[in-house]
Amino acid sequence: MTRDITNHLLFEVATEVAHKVGGIYSVLKSKAPITVAEYRERYTLIGPLNYTSAQIEVEELPVKDPLIKQTLDSMSERGIRWLYGRWLIEGAPRVLLFDIHSAGHLLNEWKNDLWNIAGIPTPDHDQETNDAILLGYLVAWFLGELVYNDRERAVICQCHEWLAGIALPLCRKRRIDVTTIFTTHATLLGRYLCAGSTDFYNNLANFDVDAEAGKRGIYHRYCIERSATHSADVFTTVSHITAFEAEHLLKRKPDGVLPNGLNVVKFQAVHEFQNLHALKKQKINEFVKGHFYGNYDFDLDNTLYFFIAGRYEFRNKGCDFFIESLARLNHRLKEAGSNKTIVAFIIMPGKTHSYTVETLKGQAVLKQLESTIEEVQKKVGERLFEHCARFNNTHAHGSTGNGGEVPSIDELIKPADRVLLKRRIFALKRDGLPPIVTHNMADDSTDPILNQIRRVQLFNKPEDRVKIIFHPEFLNANNPILSIDYDEFVRGCHLGVFPSYYEPWGYTPAECTVMGVPSITTNLSGFGCYMEDLIENTSDYGIYIVDRRMKSVDESINQLTDYMYDFAEKNRRQRINQRNRTERLSDLLDWKRMGLEYIKARQLSLKRAYPDKFKNGANPFNNSSNLKLTRPLSVPGSPRGKYGVMTPGDLGSLQEAQESLNTEDYIGFKLGGLENENNVEDEDETTHY
Ligand code: UDP
Ligand code: G6P
Ligand code: GLC
Repeated sequence: MTRDITNHLLFEVATEVAHKVGGIYSVLKSKAPITVAEYRERYTLIGPLNYTSAQIEVEELPVKDPLIKQTLDSMSERGIRWLYGRWLIEGAPRVLLFDIHSAGHLLNEWKNDLWNIAGIPTPDHDQETNDAILLGYLVAWFLGELVYNDRERAVICQCHEWLAGIALPLCRKRRIDVTTIFTTHATLLGRYLCAGSTDFYNNLANFDVDAEAGKRGIYHRYCIERSATHSADVFTTVSHITAFEAEHLLKRKPDGVLPNGLNVVKFQAVHEFQNLHALKKQKINEFVKGHFYGNYDFDLDNTLYFFIAGRYEFRNKGCDFFIESLARLNHRLKEAGSNKTIVAFIIMPGKTHSYTVETLKGQAVLKQLESTIEEVQKKVGERLFEHCARFNNTHAHGSTGNGGEVPSIDELIKPADRVLLKRRIFALKRDGLPPIVTHNMADDSTDPILNQIRRVQLFNKPEDRVKIIFHPEFLNANNPILSIDYDEFVRGCHLGVFPSYYEPWGYTPAECTVMGVPSITTNLSGFGCYMEDLIENTSDYGIYIVDRRMKSVDESINQLTDYMYDFAEKNRRQRINQRNRTERLSDLLDWKRMGLEYIKARQLSLKRAYPDKFKNGANPFNNSSNLKLTRPLSVPGSPRGKYGVMTPGDLGSLQEAQESLNTEDYIGFKLGGLENENNVEDEDETTHY
């Protein structure tokens, strides 16, 4: 059937629509403004309905599009519940959230069907897989009815990750007239294999994938992922390193790479983000004073905040490296007699019961001390005023006035005040050391982070130059302790440390960059490789890349320690300068550049579904005003890359002309001889600071 492709509808399906889990939420949320600018109401995000997060994140709206409404009404008649509305984020995209439980009674029927049409077996008690089946069948149902009702417009459906991928084999099997994109943000096997003790990257080509999946009890999930990969018209990943992995583990060479961007908000003047750092650091300072009460013997002016954050994947996220290198850093700083203190935060949600009494007490005793001091301060002020106001010229006998002298401190702070202050000071006495963890862990004795901290004995001793605080919960301004949102926290810190072993992209260092906070990443993360290939000396710009490919474990940990040590040696002026340079990289990560790859992927999917419209090199989108907002992306900005200014499009190969990537391009990009008028950069522009 021939459809109008220029006014096509776009659906993006993911489990993290209006529901935060990890990086996919960040992709969808930060990309929303440019996608909405391009598509307006033709763009809808689809996901499972999570009542708790939807209550906060989504405002219900009536369905305006008559054909979408007709489709949804017909689903309602069959008992399916859904929520249609506006996601309350910048760009306000439309979302359609299916209550997958309203289709729960169909689960067994659908499982049978999945076995019959795709040979995918599904065990009974894998909740995640069951949910993926319900979502996939609902999406395919919706799309099938929609394109039956709407014979005019073409439809693109882009699914993110295997959890949202079951609709893809269904669309293909049922010959639903939509064109599809599957974007994977990791591979299941990759994540599992790396979390173990496999030498993953050197053996990528040799794994017996079915056997490895079987051994880990994820064969059925792997089948779903692989069938989504092979059923989609266009298959993409988020980085070249994951493209390489997907080719070997999922057995399809991706059509291109869609790197993740961010919605970059530029301040009018650079000092504004610097001021924000100082402001947010103050908040962290308050927490630290409470946490270390009784042992708060270090100077906050000479204290640096380092942190690691993300989902709790101990080895994949490089938490093992972080703790080991902190121990080495501690040793080196002590040996050098450094006056610096490093407070290292680990923000990784784990199973917990609640905050520990010690943690709560720390903040409480500090609050009490603060309020007592305020009281005393007030009284001292009143006494001082009273005394001074009573200045008496004549100073006659019997007068209570003063002759001009300033009262002594003993006259101002009365014995009762002293008693009160003493009590508050004694309340700061503690028997043990400041805790290394803020919460009661459900599995304290087996927790990998705690155990490694114990092994390296970083116990917050007074003589330690490196202190550690494990906060096993994502940050939130509504938390009673460390009440600060994650992005505020990042701004207040000095260095993000993300030495990942498995990281298809890695939003955390990218987020640091756009906030002007230096960070450490690795050459096994999509982000690290991307930056390394765009910029000559990434360390000059506050992006430190640990080599986890060519170095031994010990060498990599030493390199990480060196980076942290050198950073700790910097003085304030150098840190300010470094932050300015880091912040200048943010343009490279803006969706205004990165979004181009999504446009290319969508065009490729339309081209594959409707080749006639693209005959003889024609591109129906070339004059489309819709694309204007996201098209001119190669804005010359600093810094200058190895090959001049590039867009991420130069790295990928989503153009049909270059049907697929060369395998060797995945890791070491070969981009020599790029000549493009956009690459000409004003010489003055190369002076960055
Ligand atoms: N994050 C958060 N709160 C925290 C720590 C992290 O919201 O306290 C977010 C962070 O902003 C980032 C995401 O978690 O966007 C992690 O994404 P990443 O791509 O680094 O890793 P993933 O979890 O997807 O593997
Ligand atoms: C920002 C502020 C400065 C402050 C500095 C502290 O640059 O604008 O006023 O002195 O941060 O930097 P530091 O790296 O020591 O936290
Ligand atoms: C995945 C990856 C992460 C990536 C995110 C968004 O969860 O683990 O590296 O940044 O998806 O693409």
